Parts: sequence; C-alpha cells; structure tokens
Amino acid sequence: MSSQVLRIAMNGVTGRMGYRQHLVRSVLAIRDAGGVELEDGGRVQVEPVLVGRNEDKLRELAARHDVDAWSTDPDAVIADPSVDIYFDAQVTSRRVAALTAAMRAGKHVFTEKPTAETLEEAVALARLGQQTGVTAGVVHDKLYLPGLVTLRRLVDEGFFGRILSLRGEFGYWVFEGDSQPAQRPSWNYRKEDGGGITTDMFCHWNYVLEGILGRVDAVTAKTVTHIPTRWDESGRPYAATADDAAYGIFEVTTPGGDPVVAQINSSWAVRVFRDELVEFQVDGTHGSAVAGLRRCVAQQRGHTPKPVWNPDLPVTEPFRDQWLEVPANADLDNGFRLQWEEFLRDVVAGRPHRYGLLSAARGVQLAELGLRSSAEGRRIEIPSITLDDATAAEGPREDTVVERAGALTEAAR
Ligand SMILES: NC(=O)c1ccc[n+]([C@@H]2O[C@H](COP(=O)([O-])OP(=O)(O)OC[C@H]3O[C@@H](n4cnc5c(N)ncnc54)[C@H](O)[C@@H]3O)[C@@H](O)[C@H]2O)c1
Repeated sequence: MSSQVLRIAMNGVTGRMGYRQHLVRSVLAIRDAGGVELEDGGRVQVEPVLVGRNEDKLRELAARHDVDAWSTDPDAVIADPSVDIYFDAQVTSRRVAALTAAMRAGKHVFTEKPTAETLEEAVALARLGQQTGVTAGVVHDKLYLPGLVTLRRLVDEGFFGRILSLRGEFGYWVFEGDSQPAQRPSWNYRKEDGGGITTDMFCHWNYVLEGILGRVDAVTAKTVTHIPTRWDESGRPYAATADDAAYGIFEVTTPGGDPVVAQINSSWAVRVFRDELVEFQVDGTHGSAVAGLRRCVAQQRGHTPKPVWNPDLPVTEPFRDQWLEVPANADLDNGFRLQWEEFLRDVVAGRPHRYGLLSAARGVQLAELGLRSSAEGRRIEIPSITLDDATAAEGPREDTVVERAGALTEAAR
C-alpha cells in the first residue's frame, strides 16, 4: 500500500474557476477528506501552494482555508523541487507560457481549458508534454457530470438505435455591466485579451461530441457580437471586440461509421427557457434523450406520440410529460473533483491522463476553425492532428478519439 503527498502549485485561485471549482470544491475537498484512495488501497494526500499576483488576496485565502504555502513568484514555485504538479486557471492568454515553463521543469500539469489561443501553440504544448513524459490533464468537466454520464450510458447500451442528430442549447443572459454588474469577467468579451464564446465553448463541445458520439469531421459556424458595448469591473464602458454568440453545425462520425449532425447554439445574449443552462438532445431511430448537466430524460420509440401538424387546433399532447427520467444509478460528486481524483491517481501511477493536451488541441482547433468558418462563410473540414506534424495532414481523420472507450462509464465509478 502506498501513501504519499503531492504538492500542487495552484495559479489563478483568486479567479472564478480557480477558487470555487478547483481550490474549494476539488483540492481542498480532497485534502479535507484525507486524500484520494489509490488502486492498491493506499492513499495520496494533496498540499496546495497558492500562486497569484496579489499578495493580500493570497494571504487572506490561505488563512481562510488553512493553507500554509502561497507565493507571488510563479517562477520560483515552478523551480521548487518539492512541487509535483502545476495547475493553471489564469486568464487563457497567460496559459501557454506557464504550462511550458512547468513542463520544462518536469512538473505534471493540470489545467483549465482552452490550453492556448491558437492551434499552433496548443499542439506545441501537446508535443512538449509528450517529450517531457509528464502526466498532463486538461479540464473536461462536462464529461464527468451526471446528465452526460447517463447520456453516454444510453449510447453504450444501444438505446438510440442509429443515432441521427444532436442539438445542444447553451447560454444565458450576461448583464452588460451598466445597470447591474456583469456576472462574467470583462476579458471574456475582449478578443485582444483571449475572450470570445467560440474560443471558450467550442473546446468543450469538441470533447463532449467526442465523448458522447464520435469524432468531429467538419464545422460550419456563424459567430456574432450581439452586444457591442459592455461595462467592466470598474464600471467603465468598453468595446466588446469578441463574439458573444456562436451558432454551430458539427458533422460527427460514430465509431461504427454512422454520420451524426450536431447543432449547438452557444450564447451569452439569450434568456433561459430550459431546465438547465446547457441541454443536449440526441435523437435516434429507436429513442431520444435530453440531458442537462444533472438530469437526463428519455423517450423510447414505443412511447413516441404521433403529432399531426395543424395550426388551427391548440396543442393536445402534454409533450414534456411523455419523457421518463433516466436514473443515474450512481452517486456522482462534483465533476471537477472527480477528474482531479482520476488525474492524481494517474500521477501516482506514472501513466497518461485520458484527457490530455492532444484532446485539448483538438478543442482549440475546433474553435479556430469555427471562427474561420464564420469569417469565410463556409463549411470547413477538420484535419487530424498528429504530434509529428503540427500543421496536420489534410484528408480523412484517423480515429484520434483514443480516450473514448469507456470514458464516461469510467467517470461514474
Ligand atoms: N471549465 C469550465 O467550465 C470553465 C468555465 C469558465 C472559465 N474557464 C476557464 O478558466 C480560466 C479562468 O477563467 P475565470 O472565469 O475563472 O476568469 P477570472 O477572470 O475570474 O480569473 C482569472 C484568474 O487569472 C488571474 N489573472 C488575470 N489576469 C492576469 C494576468 N494578466 N496575469 C496573470 N494572472 C491573471 C486572475 O487574478 C484570476 O486569478 C479561463 O481560461 C477560462 O477559459 C473554464
């Protein structure tokens, strides 16, 4: 039985994601539970080192959460031989330099998405990860959530028959920041600071589509900036230079070779008339299902009503009542924490994490090609990425979805 402590340098813990999901809900929750249980029955404990730019905030955070170590000098922390893992939840534009330095120093890395702002940089990171042999993990949180775990289980069980399509709806109204403060940081709306909903969300959609259905072969997107002026954290107006909505069509091929059309709307300028902030509907010849982050409902072929289009009559069918809740049949914790735990076990075992820098590069690629599709007004095929050739050969993609097998059911354990 093994027992050890991993020191984790956590950069960006004063931010929204870094603080709530990664520090509090994941690393501190793991620490306070006495660490993570390993396959051999032993345990690995974690010890965070808080890293950031603001000394006062770090000192206050450390005191509030009973953390001993903090630093405003990321270079020194990365050079510290007692640090095992570097974690990054900084603004996206700072990520490449930090991850590069950490991997060069031999640290394992765990990072928020997207890994980079350009495909070239994302592939360079993946290549560096391969060369250094460190264990690298990239947040694929949606795949660990109960709704999507259940959806993937329905796919594995053949519930859908032949899968035809997926439609996804993501978004909510993000206040402009004048009469009410915005609920997202202002850099999200400035292209020059790494903002934009396509960059932010298409990397999620890539791994969601790969993890549920199969590889993404082509993208057609329309990206727009619906709200051209917003107000920042100090109440000053600024030009929103980044896209705040992206309407995408993704052509997917299942491992069995069936084509699936996936449409996903992503918007920070939409009001919610849904049960969850993101929902995906999968339709197949034998059944359909709708999954949010937490719930999943389904309708079998035998229970499918037969509506007849007649605008002269009021709707007679209670359509929403005709779906059955699909039980999760598992007690799933916070998705970020589940992935952290799996990553920590991988670090101890000295093996790759299944959602690594190459998968992340495919996400960055989808965002980049989505933006190009919109700018050029055309459908774009997605070349496969190989780490030997960063520019990636044209032509049909090999099945790069190596992490797919058992991905979601594994997360449910
Ligand atoms: N997995 C998800 O669902 C999800 C959701 C939202 C955001 N994110 C990602 O998480 C990352 C952080 O997003 P957020 O919403 O928490 O942002 P945030 O603005 O709340 O936090 C950013 C962090 O980076 C630091 N920072 C800001 N500017 C910096 C600079 N110039 N130099 C160094 N540090 C700087 C801030 O101090 C803060 O700690 C982004 O890459 C974003 O894409 C992921």
